[in-house]
Amino acid sequence: MNAHTKIAVAGATGRVGRHVVEILEAQGHDVVPISRSVGVDLITAEGLAEALTGVEIVIDASSTPSPDQTEATEFFTTSARNLHEVGHKAGVRRMVVVSIIGIDESKAGYNAAKLAHEQAVLAGPIPVQVLRAAQFHEFVEQLVGWGRQGDVCYVPKMRTQLVAANVVAQALVDLATGPAPAPESTGAPFPEIAGPREESLAEVAKLVLARTGDVVRVEVVSDPVNPDRDLFENGALLPSPHATLAGPTYQEWLAGTS
Ligand SMILES: NC(=O)c1ccc[n+]([C@@H]2O[C@H](COP(=O)([O-])OP(=O)(O)OC[C@H]3O[C@@H](n4cnc5c(N)ncnc54)[C@H](OP(=O)(O)O)[C@@H]3O)[C@@H](O)[C@H]2O)c1
Repeated sequence: MNAHTKIAVAGATGRVGRHVVEILEAQGHDVVPISRSVGVDLITAEGLAEALTGVEIVIDASSTPSPDQTEATEFFTTSARNLHEVGHKAGVRRMVVVSIIGIDESKAGYNAAKLAHEQAVLAGPIPVQVLRAAQFHEFVEQLVGWGRQGDVCYVPKMRTQLVAANVVAQALVDLATGPAPAPESTGAPFPEIAGPREESLAEVAKLVLARTGDVVRVEVVSDPVNPDRDLFENGALLPSPHATLAGPTYQEWLAGTS
């Protein structure tokens, strides 16, 4: 991979995308950011053909904030179709896409939408590598925000091996700038990236809340109507034996963000 490859980053301002941009720029690549804030829309395709002109590789770290399965599926399948259609015409030769560990049996919500995303990106004309990641350290603050009701914070009962977003970004860059996958690797399990150890969501939520200075009780809740409840609770979202485990623990990471 020469040092001046033109690489587009979809979701360039997001939790993981911003680190992908930083790492690629530090390596000397010519980086094209894609996000609505820079005038490029993956859904309407506004500005996409111009953005992808001369681009060899796309790293897709875009997302929708909607946890609704239908809305999120619409977002991911439309963005996949547009990136393939416009990217293929522009001569893009590879895409690397970030997904989530353990979603094969997902039937609901955002995770089921990500499964539809994987299928949609793998069905297009441009060769795609999917990297599956564990939940990000950065995601805990969002979970705490969603779950806060006065002096109680409800967090889902979910087993997770949280990982720092910059560690995921480095793994995406390594895949995108590394050798193209051998033809015999077709059908191999997706590579996975997770943090160094399983974390308790209740404990890490307490660490986040402690920083606010508010006195808040954390309650772990199991959602009986969530079709994915067993997957959340029985460890299906934990990394497989072939996963790469890297980066700081949640506590180490949090200490570095103060
Ligand atoms: N968060 C997690 O814990 C986690 C775990 C595993 C995998 N993942 C995956 O990692 C990826 C990135 O997640 P994230 O949490 O880093 O996302 P995020 O912080 O929500 O960032 C989303 C990015 O997508 C861009 N975007 C949204 N709508 C767009 C549109 N219509 N056109 C162009 N760009 C658009 C946003 O910029 P604008 O708003 O400016 O458009 C932003 O740059 C997702 O595929 C997610 O499924 C996340």
